[in-house]
Amino acid sequence: MHKTSKKDAIGLMIKQESLLAKLYKLFAEQFPEHRETWSELAAEEKKHANWLRQLGDAVEKGIVGFEEGRFKAPALKIYIAHLEQIIARAEKKELTLTSAVSYTVDFERSLIEKNVFTHFDSASEQARSVLNRLKSETEAHIQKIQTIDP
Ligand SMILES: [Fe+2]
Repeated sequence: MHKTSKKDAIGLMIKQESLLAKLYKLFAEQFPEHRETWSELAAEEKKHANWLRQLGDAVEKGIVGFEEGRFKAPALKIYIAHLEQIIARAEKKELTLTSAVSYTVDFERSLIEKNVFTHFDSASEQARSVLNRLKSETEAHIQKIQTIDP
């Protein structure tokens, strides 16, 4: 099996965040009574994708390290495939508010459990703070979405 390059690994993380943004934007359109919450989440996911792009650039330049050896690409690929399936169902308006909330909690929690943001290794204060914010905002999404009582 060929090893995932740093660039591929970070590309998968960018994709994961961009797809979450896409899903939450669909939910914002479909559940207007909670539009503000979903839109806020979508905007933050877009921001997370951008932070990861910047971290990717810093890795390319050798400013930030990335331990691709511990990175579980197959797990993230399965996660992305699942996310794409749910997006397809959301596009067909097949999801209720209850399942939208429950998928959101599952997707966000899974990122925390898989420790996807812990593979960067940084002596740089700035990169460390970006990674801490990625993790804390992901955790905050779980709390925020659970305030919706379907
Ligand atoms: Fe995120």
